[in-house]
Amino acid sequence: MSDDERFQLLHGRLAIPWPGLPSPPAHWKISSGRVPGIPRLDIPDLAETDASLGIINPFGLREGDVATALPAGQALAATFNAKLAHDSGVMLGAEARAKGFNVLLGGGLNLARDFYCGRNFEYLGEDPLLAGVLAGESVRGSQSQGVIATVKHYSLNVQETLRDTLDARIDETAHRESDLLAFQIAIERGQPGAVMGAYNRINGEHASSNAHLLTSVLKQDWGYPGWVMSDWGAVHSVESFNAGLDQQSGATLDRQIWFDGPLREELAAGRVSRARLSDAVRRILRSVYAAGADRPLEESAIDYVAHAQVARAIAAQGMVLLKNDGVLPLSDAGAGPVLVVGGQAHIGVLAGYGSSMVTPVCGVAASIPVGAPSGFGQRSRQVYFASSPMEALRNALPHRQFSYDSGYFPQTTAARAAHASLVIVFATQWQGESMDADSLTLPQGQDALIAAIAQANPNTLVVLQTGNPVRMPWLKQVRAVLQAWYPGQEGGAAIADVLSGRVNPSGRLPVTFPLAESQAPRARAPGLGAPDGKSLTVNYFEGSDVGYRWYAKHGLRPLFAFGHGLSYTHFKHLGLKLALEGNTLVARFEVENIGERLGADVPQLYLVEAAGQPVRRLVGFERVELQPGERRAVQMTIDVRLLARWEGEGWSQHAGRYRFALGRSALKIGRRVGIVLPQRTLPP
Ligand code: BGC
Repeated sequence: MSDDERFQLLHGRLAIPWPGLPSPPAHWKISSGRVPGIPRLDIPDLAETDASLGIINPFGLREGDVATALPAGQALAATFNAKLAHDSGVMLGAEARAKGFNVLLGGGLNLARDFYCGRNFEYLGEDPLLAGVLAGESVRGSQSQGVIATVKHYSLNVQETLRDTLDARIDETAHRESDLLAFQIAIERGQPGAVMGAYNRINGEHASSNAHLLTSVLKQDWGYPGWVMSDWGAVHSVESFNAGLDQQSGATLDRQIWFDGPLREELAAGRVSRARLSDAVRRILRSVYAAGADRPLEESAIDYVAHAQVARAIAAQGMVLLKNDGVLPLSDAGAGPVLVVGGQAHIGVLAGYGSSMVTPVCGVAASIPVGAPSGFGQRSRQVYFASSPMEALRNALPHRQFSYDSGYFPQTTAARAAHASLVIVFATQWQGESMDADSLTLPQGQDALIAAIAQANPNTLVVLQTGNPVRMPWLKQVRAVLQAWYPGQEGGAAIADVLSGRVNPSGRLPVTFPLAESQAPRARAPGLGAPDGKSLTVNYFEGSDVGYRWYAKHGLRPLFAFGHGLSYTHFKHLGLKLALEGNTLVARFEVENIGERLGADVPQLYLVEAAGQPVRRLVGFERVELQPGERRAVQMTIDVRLLARWEGEGWSQHAGRYRFALGRSALKIGRRVGIVLPQRTLPP
């Protein structure tokens, strides 16, 4: 390779026409980014597309191009179903390839440390094992289709406010045991071709130039063989290259194309070594060939019908029944009219906003300009996918009558509600990239609306489409609450499936729902409302006690705990036993469906005491589908890192008694079972 060819691979360009930037070449397909290949050497272009929740069509600029729009990442996390994560990855990889892309900018797994992060809906919840396993499986699925998948945003991009300037401070032990562990598990399991750095600083240094994270941790400690790409507009100097960043993405968005002219000068001046140059190029090419991304891209037909089944399965399995006094599942015959209120439920379901937003196969039912003050937000549109829950309910319950009320005039709505036999309120909270929530309260007076309706008609239930947890001051007044997240292009049908009982709900919360802001480590996004560019330090003092671990440690009772979720049947857990087999700790137990319906349980195994110290940590989970009366043996192998502490050079499992319990949530745990484990150390 010539040096010109090498440098060409080290920076990509935005492939979207952008105000103030040179237009991308006319023959490029509009997409998030592109790195031209080298035809002389048969090195393909790297054609990059965002793909966290489907193959996006940026701002709809590829006219008429649609894709399968998956539910929010949180919904996938709520399924606790690794196989489904793999299926969704396969689907994403296949659609990407058929549309002419070979690099997926997907696999967001920043831990949901804070209830307000605008991008939590793209991610996989608050637990490193759950997020790591699901992200890894999704990557593995995608790469089986001959495309490169990415995990992002490495690391601690856990709020959107001031994401470019924010300095996330965290102690090394805490970082290794939480956010870094999620990435480590995902990388081991999925072997993603690329890792995308974050925008923010970590302990003083921007992610894109953080030698500790990029080189010492990722490449040396974990032996990661792939390449590190930057986020778009996240590179601030040429020094990032020696710190371990291999590729400057969307380089036209940065102040300079650092990884071209300035990097050539560094090489000439001897400040960058030839070995490092070769290393970066080799990492990119290794991933291209390892994933089979060099296979020619031929645009081909997509089986959208089959792919819709994946979207529907995630939506249905990811819905979490938070409360049910017996009103659900809804009966069809012999029951009176139903009033459906709010959330545009007569036409569609809400989508989250930002670089993950897909133009769905089902079409868009409404696209409302919202006009956020800055960033992506300026082009903000609140989008509803054309998948109407009310229409789907009509089909599922043909003997009932349905009518819709917008809820814009609460008194009128309450008066109508009084005449219905049942009211279903669709409450929404719109979240997205570059926008953090300002509180746990449902916006636009929806709490007052729900309370007024429930007062007028006690036979009221609530379906939530939110990107984050919300408070529910009306919880005692309503009969049932279903958390549907942003349910994707099949969302309407999936909501009807669960409400009507065609599908027995099995989702479990992948995040804690606080009772009030004051319970959380931070009650409000630091810097919220400050102008872009302001510097800000956020100290993640809770360390690795993210989410439920924080609540367990401080004895706090949240509104709903991590892992909570109801079913229309009941399950029993029996005979938990632990055994050390060689070096491997194995848990065995049985799960029985003791109710009258087919259903799926998600037994969760928690570590509750480690070498005499109380802890709370998810160490295993499985989704088990059972016929009524069926009993099944489950086996879980426990990752030592979940039992150990990070101690400077590696992991240490201290000798002593370890206790475990099966939980119905992180706070509702069963009988504790102990085992004595020896001292053990493990490399990073
Ligand atoms: C986002 C990334 C995304 C990139 C390219 C950035 O704003 O943070 O997640 O992959 O844009 O669209």
